[in-house]
Amino acid sequence: EDTGKGGYDHYMLKEIHEQPQALRQCLQERVDELSGAIDLGDDLQQTVRGAEFIQLVACGTSYHAALYAAQLFRSQGVPAQAFVASEYVTAPPPYSEDTLVIGITQSGETADTLSALREAQRRGVETLAVTNVVGSTASRECADALYIRSGPEIGVAATKTFSAQVVAANLVAAVLEDRGTHHDFASALRDLPSQVQEVLDETNAETVAERFVDSEAFFFIGRGYDYPVALEGALKMKEITYEHAEGFAAGELKHGPLALVTSETPVFAVVTGETGSKKTVGNVKEVEARSAPVVAVTDGRTDVGRYADEVLEVPETDSRLAPVLANVQLQLVSYYVAERLGRNIDKPRNLAKSVTVE
Ligand code: G6P
Repeated sequence: EDTGKGGYDHYMLKEIHEQPQALRQCLQERVDELSGAIDLGDDLQQTVRGAEFIQLVACGTSYHAALYAAQLFRSQGVPAQAFVASEYVTAPPPYSEDTLVIGITQSGETADTLSALREAQRRGVETLAVTNVVGSTASRECADALYIRSGPEIGVAATKTFSAQVVAANLVAAVLEDRGTHHDFASALRDLPSQVQEVLDETNAETVAERFVDSEAFFFIGRGYDYPVALEGALKMKEITYEHAEGFAAGELKHGPLALVTSETPVFAVVTGETGSKKTVGNVKEVEARSAPVVAVTDGRTDVGRYADEVLEVPETDSRLAPVLANVQLQLVSYYVAERLGRNIDKPRNLAKSVTVE
């Protein structure tokens, strides 16, 4: 079994380190390096460009990618909303004939997501699967499929597939934008895999994990594109460490969760890009005033580092892509906390890689 881990102690760590390669595969032949043109194939592009409204359905980590994608599509002027798949089925939202329903699912087999996609199909709505598994149920049942090409993911906690889902969402957004060529963005996308590598090579996540391993709870805050990363950071921490972790929209912290914050609860503040990150710095100051340790995950565009006990740095990139880099740092922190606690990292208790019951 060890041979499959390629010298790493766990599949999860191996898969975290496979991210540069996974992202290159996702971009290959889809972004023209010279012209910056993005090409997802005529059929898929036609489907995407015909969408007046987009609804995204997903579970777990894929739901966080869906939340990110919805924000991205809205920034292109397309009304878009992400739904937890089981809730979409329970209380289906209104739709029109120009609605596109996108299911984001690594495995393509999650029962809740399949059931939401089937609900959409029953209404005669167009469906698209964003998935890692060629030939999966989602890819077969949806009208179109966009493969994220991450290669097999064995660790129960999704890592490289989240990053690839986010990149795939950017490709769809670029098609929605329909500008033909996307020079600056294409070069930002092209540089992303090596920036992920830079994070992996230079990270101090292990030191941060060591310092806070005995904490009572872990909180994560972020705003805009950093918000889904805060949620994902908390989910990863829960899944593999079994410790209490919560993610909040940075602006919501003061509306309740701040009561939980003490000197025993580190707050990871994801502060990247331009979307209101100055306001998040304000939220960090509120946390610091309650004597909670702050870990800033930042590209250095603000002075949040001044108010932080530890800083996890990421290279600067397009605001839309920075969350991928920040998330890699949080994956590593969770991994090293779980390792120190001696958890069953690749197969956490009670969890399954793919949940095929509703
Ligand atoms: C399970 C896994 C999660 C995953 C979720 C959705 O709960 O433990 O890691 O995010 O399913 O999986 P999917 O294959 O649909 O992305």
